[in-house]
Amino acid sequence: MPKPASRIQTGRPAPARKVGATKQRAAAHAAGPIKRACILTGGGDAPGLNAVIRAFVKTCVDLDIEVYGSEDGFEGLIQPDRLVRLKKASVRGILPKGGSIIGCSNRANPFAYPTRDARGRERFVDVSQQVLARIREHEIDVLVMVGGDGTMTHARDLMKLGVRVVGVPKTIDNDLAATDYTFGFDTAVETATWAIDALHSTAESHDRVMVVELMGRYAGWISLYAGIAGGADVIVIPEIPYDVERIVAKVEERAARGVTFSIVVVGEGAHPKGGAVSRLTRGRKGHLERLGGAGQTLADQLKHRIPHEVRVTVLGHLQRGGSPSSFDRLLGTRFGVEAAWLCQRGDTGRMVALRGQDIVTVPIEEAVGHPKLVPVDGELVRAARAVGIELGAPPLC
Ligand code: F6P
Repeated sequence: MPKPASRIQTGRPAPARKVGATKQRAAAHAAGPIKRACILTGGGDAPGLNAVIRAFVKTCVDLDIEVYGSEDGFEGLIQPDRLVRLKKASVRGILPKGGSIIGCSNRANPFAYPTRDARGRERFVDVSQQVLARIREHEIDVLVMVGGDGTMTHARDLMKLGVRVVGVPKTIDNDLAATDYTFGFDTAVETATWAIDALHSTAESHDRVMVVELMGRYAGWISLYAGIAGGADVIVIPEIPYDVERIVAKVEERAARGVTFSIVVVGEGAHPKGGAVSRLTRGRKGHLERLGGAGQTLADQLKHRIPHEVRVTVLGHLQRGGSPSSFDRLLGTRFGVEAAWLCQRGDTGRMVALRGQDIVTVPIEEAVGHPKLVPVDGELVRAARAVGIELGAPPLC
């Protein structure tokens, strides 16, 4: 959505130089050396974004590559005056900060951009040609796109239009198959673990069953990691549809042992066997549905079956906020440096990734449309079961 520019005062938009007729191709089509890069942070924010921006800018400046930032994801390439020059001074002191200094947007989809028609109804229009024109106008040689699956899909589609792109994976959900970890996940797990720890004492004082709903969309990584680390009694995740009777049995079994409280972790995409995912809004063209309510859904089923009071905590965007952990700062820094090196080599069309201990690069096409879900009979799930955590369904074998 249009917004007054500009949150960073250290630079001015690149000059809107007119290019002659012979230069009417998109600068980003050219295979020549990269002299000017534009970085954007698409989708929801994640702790560690500023580490990526900082590392990318610092490395590029030393490599003689000029860097611009597109504010609020693609808005900077759609709306006027939303491109900012990023210099070393622009990124000083940002490493411990959450969010993104250039802002994020999960609505600014260049292929389905939300606008209002004359009657005020929301319409989605393709503004990709506008983005291309802006890239040409500002003589941007490469677009560095930091984001999750949606942003990487836009990267792939812009490549098809001839734009040179470099991808950097980001999501607290850690659900991209092309990389072992995305930055933001570690911080989100820390926050969620802290919350589960905190809920223990109040649950125990009041003999309550505390249901805590965590983010992660269709992947249960945050719930499983934080649930195990926080000593939850029950964890339900999207990959394993649950049977509420097993959760009741777990609470009763604990009560029979004299333990009169329980902590139940619910991934936001978790759903009962044969039931639907809890949604706040439906998905629309090029825009994801919003999930929410899974914790309350489970609590509603539990409260008629057990004598305990049931309370629900939705941790929500707290998991995306705050200062990044050292792991996320380090991973973001390594990704940002590698992205700059890809630019230096002119090796575009690739996304940086972590495999084991190593930073690697993969073709962007390979990074798109491959969600990484929790293996339902994997070691992590078996470890959870081994320490007595109820997952809402029996093991596969
Ligand atoms: O994908 C990251 C994520 O935080 C999900 O875990 C969550 O469902 C979603 O974004 C929330 O997005 P929004 O910022 O639109 O509420």
